[in-house]
Amino acid sequence: MNPKSTRKSVSFKAQARTIDHLGKGQIADAPTAISELWKNSYDAYARNVALHLFDDEIKCGAIIDNGCGMTYEQLSNSWLTIGTASKSKKNLLPKEDRFGLKDRHTQGEKGIGRLSTAFLAPVTLIVTKKVDTLYSAAMIDWRLFENTYLSLHDIKVPMQQFDSLEELPKVCSELQQDMLDNLALNPSTEDEKILRRMWEHFSTDENEAFELRHNPQDDDVFVSTEEKVRQLSTSFSFKLNHIDSWLPLLDKVEKLDGEQHGTALFLLDLNRDLDLLTNRGNMSRDADEYKAIQSDLVDTLRAFVDPFNRESDETNEFHYEIAAFDMEGYLYGEQTEILNYQDVFGYSDFETLEHKVVGKVDEKGWFRGHVTAFGKEHFDVAFPCRSSGMDALTKTGSFAVKLGTFELEIGKSTHEPEHHSHLIAQAQKYSGFMIFRDGLRVLPYGRSDNDFFQIEEHRGKNAGRYYWASRRLFGQILLDQESNQRLKDKAGREGFVKNQAARELKSLVRTLLLKLADTYFGGKSEERKLMLDLLSKDKKRQTKARNSSARLSKKAFTGAMDTNLPKLNIHVESVRRVHQELESGIGISLHHLDELIEGINKLEALRPELKAPNKPAKMDGFLEEQYRSYRDLFGELSELLQTCRERLNKLESVNQQRSPMESAQNKYDTIESAITKQVNTYANAIDKTLERLESTWKKEARIDKEAYERQMLPMLDMVTNSSNTVEVLNSLDKVYRELSDDIATKYEGFLKALGKLEQGVDLESAFTLAEEDRVKAEQEINQMRGLAQLGISFEILAHELNAQDKAVTRSLNFMSSSAKQEPSFKNAMKAHKQFTEYLRFLSPLDFRVIKSVTTFQGKR
Ligand SMILES: Nc1ncnc2c1ncn2[C@@H]1O[C@H](COP(=O)(O)OP(=O)(O)OP(=O)(O)O)[C@@H](O)[C@H]1O
Ligand SMILES: [Mg+2]
Repeated sequence: MNPKSTRKSVSFKAQARTIDHLGKGQIADAPTAISELWKNSYDAYARNVALHLFDDEIKCGAIIDNGCGMTYEQLSNSWLTIGTASKSKKNLLPKEDRFGLKDRHTQGEKGIGRLSTAFLAPVTLIVTKKVDTLYSAAMIDWRLFENTYLSLHDIKVPMQQFDSLEELPKVCSELQQDMLDNLALNPSTEDEKILRRMWEHFSTDENEAFELRHNPQDDDVFVSTEEKVRQLSTSFSFKLNHIDSWLPLLDKVEKLDGEQHGTALFLLDLNRDLDLLTNRGNMSRDADEYKAIQSDLVDTLRAFVDPFNRESDETNEFHYEIAAFDMEGYLYGEQTEILNYQDVFGYSDFETLEHKVVGKVDEKGWFRGHVTAFGKEHFDVAFPCRSSGMDALTKTGSFAVKLGTFELEIGKSTHEPEHHSHLIAQAQKYSGFMIFRDGLRVLPYGRSDNDFFQIEEHRGKNAGRYYWASRRLFGQILLDQESNQRLKDKAGREGFVKNQAARELKSLVRTLLLKLADTYFGGKSEERKLMLDLLSKDKKRQTKARNSSARLSKKAFTGAMDTNLPKLNIHVESVRRVHQELESGIGISLHHLDELIEGINKLEALRPELKAPNKPAKMDGFLEEQYRSYRDLFGELSELLQTCRERLNKLESVNQQRSPMESAQNKYDTIESAITKQVNTYANAIDKTLERLESTWKKEARIDKEAYERQMLPMLDMVTNSSNTVEVLNSLDKVYRELSDDIATKYEGFLKALGKLEQGVDLESAFTLAEEDRVKAEQEINQMRGLAQLGISFEILAHELNAQDKAVTRSLNFMSSSAKQEPSFKNAMKAHKQFTEYLRFLSPLDFRVIKSVTTFQGKR
């Protein structure tokens, strides 16, 4: 036989299952699937994308966007062709499909991303519209691709073009009908008969597998795939209100671009994850599965777009959200927000951090950038992160880094206490080390279960040296497709393909983290020791100053109360007597009148000294009482003195001993001497205080100079010729640094205070006011905390009550129409509505620190 005759060339043929494997079988989980579809919307220059979930008998979801959409031909050619090369050349979309937005680096490359829709629901209805074209729709039941007997070309995807979205329910039901043709339920042609047999074979296989199933339960019922496809197709009907939430997105671009355009993927009969998020039924809000699904979704999709780079730029707008709506739908129902693009730790937050690293690792593996440690800036930092064995140019390519963190212990942090607790709360929600490529997040980096750079693993071994901790790290690596070409995603989007570029990236970043920790932040860093030292000294000094000032004013206050109160009592008593005498007014001799004037003059001169002192911010009940009676008594003294003065002036004029001119001159002279006396007393007191101050500070200066000798000499004594010179010099330098810091702090504080005095600042009042404000703020915060506690309790309660409310309403509505006619039904409904109203009345208690913004659209 001629061996050549068996030689031939054959091409691969694809079974239908390939689609199933590439889509549902390949993708890691539901959040990753959503991210794939969102990336497609991003590539289509959408401004908005959302995942909306609608509760119903058959639950439905929709991934909606206002991107460029597809024509009928594009839908059948590119969307329905696997591995489409449309994007692989990475060309920009035509100008008219970019709507004047900033150029976007195309994220898609493999041409399989859209198949992940199958992970979210068994059936997809895709509706799309491009500018200047009609709407197009196609329907796919992904379960058809599970049939192992079918080839790809055996399955037909029904498609249709139509004019207006209002026709969609009708279009959908026609597509449902056409899709059933794939099962060939009533075969007539030969091909259909073959198709029917393939489905029968497959159902038999499934039934056999069912019989042999592991761990059978009594209530297991066999339903073949074919049956499932048929059942959903006949029981589902598309409702017009499923498009309500897409309309606002379309209207928005109609205003901006002149016509509606976009794509919606309706997910019919949601799979378990999304189904639970839409309505968790009897499952508790605290059930582990429910919590895990929700947190996984938020963890994966938050910061979908680099949050450090897009603060309010309209030409770069890409907003995303996930929300669930109850049975009443988008327009009238209640909305549960699951994720919003604003829920991120943004760049303005990042800038406030005490520890920051902003820079770049270049293609040679050198870090160059700017480090802030404990708020202190270090410019032009540069060091190599490459390890031995790396080529001159790394395979990773250059990339930018931003790292930010803070000290968890408030005592070690330079942040103010309020800001510190704000950061702790932010870190609980948004911490993580994420990777972005051309502005979009690369999964799964930054998810709480991903530790690519082994941050937590190392920390477990030596937390002091491996300073960075995921739970308080706000970090990102910024890649781009050009510089980092070799970093490729795995098809299932579970991270980079493990090649040399990915291994080098990991090693470069690990070295970077370690070196930064050793130099600036971690246990080994000198910088950290120094800063912590300074910090604790500064903090101690500030608190000491505040406390001693508060103590001094309290001491001055109680002292004044104790010594002045008896004096004040005596003076008030004497003025009262003079007052009485003047009131009776009769038979006052001229001589006695002069005596009285003399007495009042004296008392008046004493008055300023008896003025009530500044009261301390915090007073106990007794002191408060004492203060009030003192203040009243002083008020009485001032009042009495003034009336006496007026009486005396009157007497003087009645007596007509002096002419008005003489009287005025006389008054002028008396006041002048009183003022001179008063000023002189104060000037003397100031002189004395300054003298004391001068001698105290001279003494301080002497002591400080001696302190140097006292500390240095014993160290000098211990040095021998065999000592290590470097160590000795370093330790002498260390003493110098510490002493010099202490001296600077002490003298500068004093000088600053003097400077303020020189500029006429009333330090005493400023201090008292600041202290009063502080105490008031402290009290208000305590009250707020109490109120917040109440608010949180109510929020939890309200959530449960809301769920109960819905359950009751739903059950009541499900009652038969005859039952609904019963008066008792009506009463139950009325009572229930009343109850819900009461709940609404309490809703203002549901307050949070940050209120989210609600946008009302359409009929709402
Ligand atoms: N929301 C959308 N709007 C407009 N066109 C879309 C949309 N989603 C998908 N497409 C079209 O369908 C094609 C296929 O998308 P798919 O996600 O499967 O592949 P890709 O994005 O090219 O690559 P990858 O598998 O890496 O995501 C896209 O290239 C695009 O032309
Ligand atoms: Mg894609």
